[in-house]
Amino acid sequence: MTRNRRSGLAVLAAGLALLLAGCGGPASTATSGPTRNLEVLSWWTSGSERAALNVLFDDFRTAHPGVDVRNAAVAGGGGSNAHVVLANRLLGGDPPDVWQTHPGASIEQYIDAGQIADVSSIYQHDKLSSVTRQDLRQAVSRDGKQYGVSTGAHRINMLWFNKRLLDKATVTVPAGGYTADALLNDLAKLKAAGVVPLCLGAKDPFASAELFENTLLGVIGADGWASLTSDRLNWNGPQVRQALGRFGTMLDYADPEAGALTWDQATRKLAAGECAFESMNDSAYGELVVDGAKEGTDFDYVPYPGTDNLFLTVVDTFVMAKNAKDPQNAQAFLATIATAPTQLAFNKLKGSAPLRTDVDVRSLPPYQQSAAKAFAQDPVLLSITHGEAKSPQFQQGFYDAIAAFAQSKDINVFNQALLDAVNQVPPPPH
Ligand code: GAL
Repeated sequence: MTRNRRSGLAVLAAGLALLLAGCGGPASTATSGPTRNLEVLSWWTSGSERAALNVLFDDFRTAHPGVDVRNAAVAGGGGSNAHVVLANRLLGGDPPDVWQTHPGASIEQYIDAGQIADVSSIYQHDKLSSVTRQDLRQAVSRDGKQYGVSTGAHRINMLWFNKRLLDKATVTVPAGGYTADALLNDLAKLKAAGVVPLCLGAKDPFASAELFENTLLGVIGADGWASLTSDRLNWNGPQVRQALGRFGTMLDYADPEAGALTWDQATRKLAAGECAFESMNDSAYGELVVDGAKEGTDFDYVPYPGTDNLFLTVVDTFVMAKNAKDPQNAQAFLATIATAPTQLAFNKLKGSAPLRTDVDVRSLPPYQQSAAKAFAQDPVLLSITHGEAKSPQFQQGFYDAIAAFAQSKDINVFNQALLDAVNQVPPPPH
């Protein structure tokens, strides 16, 4: 980050903190005065995640030099372990000041439980309301109040590929309109050429879940997604059967080492030319860059088959504990995330598109510029894999059903696991 950007940011954040203090924002609910600490819990520990998280910390520290920031990140892609640690800390009445979550059902659980603070004042003072998509703002709101600040939007429905391996197997480089049948043909060709066709980090359950989610979206489209999220999708019907059939075939082409690999390790294999295709949200972009791979030369990408012009998203959102130990710092950290310079610098490393639509993205690489454009103009769909579109209980059932199907390749086993999860979902609170 340049000196100018840093000092501009410091002034902006300091001004914002003053404004918030004067206007009785959420920090005014604090029982204590200023403190010198801030604890932030996330699951960002891979190379690109860590670098991007450090942008948030650095920008916060520049504006608040006296504050000691504790990075309480817990490794585990998609938050698998962080969620457990967080749940235990919430249960024990010892929440971190700030934690990572997602819009929709994920943040709702904390709003329902009264565990997070209203941070609407950040939206008012930073004009965040006028530069964020209404649907995504809605997804972090309850009764007109905002409860989280988002860094950026990842596009899930992306397919990445190693260009040299495709070349080796004389596979034509995919372009828009690439179909599921074409992908399956290409996977077969790669296998015949002695190449590992599909990269997969199956040690992180979210990676297989994204592969299935993308495959399902490719079959049911945006209308089907609307049915799914409103519980009208027939999980036993021909479309789900078709998606599961394709998913099963794809698993047959997956890296035999997949079970021992995390999502970022699988992505590193793509960068190194050890496997050819990967279905992964564009966290993969940040990771490929960290791995030294060059867009257009070493790797390229295409929307996942059947999902052109759709933006299935995982949005990262930060919330502050209602009973935070360091409420003023927590509030100021969220205010830092909300600024345009921080969003630009953060997303550049993370691979995602800034949530603020007024960020000038011309300094981002071509992929990210195209993703930012797609985010601005395409229908944005919330994800099941990341607990946005459906409850965390349903999300868990989805993971269980996918794991059970991967073993059995039996749709009845898939449906039973999902049904078990749905039956466990408690009725919505009144
Ligand atoms: C998602 C998160 C992304 C990404 C991925 C892997 O939940 O939104 O930012 O890094 O997990 O950890």
